[in-house]
Amino acid sequence: MDLSILGIPMDLGAGRRGVDMGPSALRNAHLAGTLRGLGHTVTDLGDVEVPLPETVDKHAEGGLIFLDPIIAACRSAAERVAALPEGTFPVTLGGDHSVSMGTVTGNALRGGSPRRTGLIWVDAHTDYNTPRSSPSGNIHGMPVAHLTGLGDPQLSGLGGGWHLQPEDIVMIGIRSVDAHERELLRGAGIKAYTMKDVDQLGITRIMDETLERLSGTERLHVSFDADALDPSVAPGVGTPVPGGLTYREGHLLMELLSESGRVTSLDIVEVNPVLDTRNQTAEVMVGMAASLLGQRIL
Ligand code: ARG
Ligand code: MN
Ligand code: MN
Ligand code: MN
Repeated sequence: MDLSILGIPMDLGAGRRGVDMGPSALRNAHLAGTLRGLGHTVTDLGDVEVPLPETVDKHAEGGLIFLDPIIAACRSAAERVAALPEGTFPVTLGGDHSVSMGTVTGNALRGGSPRRTGLIWVDAHTDYNTPRSSPSGNIHGMPVAHLTGLGDPQLSGLGGGWHLQPEDIVMIGIRSVDAHERELLRGAGIKAYTMKDVDQLGITRIMDETLERLSGTERLHVSFDADALDPSVAPGVGTPVPGGLTYREGHLLMELLSESGRVTSLDIVEVNPVLDTRNQTAEVMVGMAASLLGQRIL
């Protein structure tokens, strides 16, 4: 396959600094070489330009922290991804999870006209806050709401009128949801597998159900937040939550998606080398990408 790597070194959407170094950490953990070793042609497109927090205005109307520069960075990410040829598989590197408003939009619009796109959101968090429900004002807690058309009109308008359908979204690994966010989620039509579901059903059944549910979508995007994994496996994240996916559950999830042959794009987000132990989290996430892109044990 032709893979294109694009970094979005942004930490404006997170409450803690350092996640802007995620793309460097993942490149240092041999992302491109690992994927080439699986037989792919890999092109690194470099990074989208993102301003430093020190150079931009932090406070914006509506309590949305760093709104304007986040809109600009997500717009460039969406344009870069949308311009890629249809046969290319984009691997986009965060950055905090707000980058996915750009990457998912760009992937859905790739090829000129919007395609029905399924979203598999692997995360400890649902990231379904709106500016009103958010307890923090951090935009990385809001991308899914905006992708479905809720919230700030500029952020939800990145696809010019295109939105993700809630029934085309499946979340896996969920264990931290804010009070008002939970109310919004109820009845939204999004399928969320919590860690309790992972414990009870197992990853195999969850992936069968997920692929069945998303069988009508033409494209499938996986957005993998490193904090979906247990903090013992992936300590380098800004918002760790105990009780996450084990190393093997993460790999099995990606291996089953790989076997399905249906996934068309991937985000790796929220890797924060400042909070990590010797780049462990970036290395683990490169392994997850490899499992999705064809790595097999035998
Ligand atoms: N729910 C919290 C908030 O809205 C945390 C969100 C964490 N999101 C993430 N992508 N790590 O602030
Ligand atoms: Mn997230
Ligand atoms: Mn998260
Ligand atoms: Mn809409």
